[in-house]
Amino acid sequence: MNEPPKKRVLSGIQPSGRLHLGNYFGMIKPAVELQNQADNQCFYFIADYHALTQLPDPEQLRSHSLEATLDLLACGVDPEKTVLFRQSDIPEIPQLTWILSCLAPLGLLERCHSYKDKISRGFSPNAGLFNYPVLMAADILAYNSDLVPVGKDQKQHLEVTRDLAQKFNWQYGDVLVEPKALIRDETAVVPGIDGRKMSKSYDNFIELFGRDKTIREKIMRIQTDSTPLEAPKDPDKCNVFALYKLLASQEEMEEMRAAYLKGGLGYGHAKKALLEKFQEYFAAARERRQELARTPEKIEEVLQEGAKKARKTTTTVLEKVLKAIGIR
Ligand code: ADP
Ligand code: TRP
Repeated sequence: MNEPPKKRVLSGIQPSGRLHLGNYFGMIKPAVELQNQADNQCFYFIADYHALTQLPDPEQLRSHSLEATLDLLACGVDPEKTVLFRQSDIPEIPQLTWILSCLAPLGLLERCHSYKDKISRGFSPNAGLFNYPVLMAADILAYNSDLVPVGKDQKQHLEVTRDLAQKFNWQYGDVLVEPKALIRDETAVVPGIDGRKMSKSYDNFIELFGRDKTIREKIMRIQTDSTPLEAPKDPDKCNVFALYKLLASQEEMEEMRAAYLKGGLGYGHAKKALLEKFQEYFAAARERRQELARTPEKIEEVLQEGAKKARKTTTTVLEKVLKAIGIR
């Protein structure tokens, strides 16, 4: 009997800064778990063209791309099981982006929250930033992706992708696969140290592999309310607890919850406990990362090998797309 076809899982991460706890729980951890299930075939990439919309410094773009690849490998992305590559090594992506741009209504892109949010924070809106969701749709559709593990902030971009796939298929015949977003409720939005969504573009993130001193300082700066030490506290309203519960075991989490409710636990203690959990949780990954960082040329090889495998799909999909639209 033939085996059922594997599900194609795909996700990307922007090398726009150091990766943080929000990236880890929103995308990296689910991505690694999906990679380790036999019925999936995973494609993960470094979205450097996306980062270019906000990162004009060539040295930074280069070094962040390497760092982000190291972070993914250290966290368990395994190039033996997964196709790991860099977006810009796939020439079919900008080609498909152009084709999809010609189908994308301006209104659809104008409604995108992430674009509106960046404008409201004072970014000057270059055309790349505006077209960002179309580039993301090309990323997803060029690989016939079925499932896309992401944090909740990317939900709307997945809806745009599905819209564009439907529009293309309706206009030109069934060529593109409609993907589904995979968003886990419990880690949909990981809060930053100020309580807003943790993000590289706010200064509220806790880096996965930052210096010990920086991580300690960040954790000690997590915003809490002014409930006195001896008073009972609501764990569900506390940013420290929200992060602690991601890192702790069920039992440790319940103990901490009880200590909050009972009173007598200061936020300083809770922060110390969080720091310890953080260090314990990422200790092995941290070691792996140091090891990997010694041979950056091997990282480049992994990415080149990944790009070769990835292009097997993108060249086929693009060929079909070009035929369908009348260019071949
Ligand atoms: P950032 O907002 O820091 O620039 P990216 O946009 O590169 O992060 O996101 C990479 C992946 O990590 C995406 O799947 C995104 O949804 C996820 N992610 C980012 N921040 C968070 C967060 N605070 N909570 C949950 N997921 C997140
Ligand atoms: N836009 C995504 C983010 O900021 C990164 C990304 C680019 C992506 N292309 C993708 C995620 C394709 C999933 C699938 O997080």
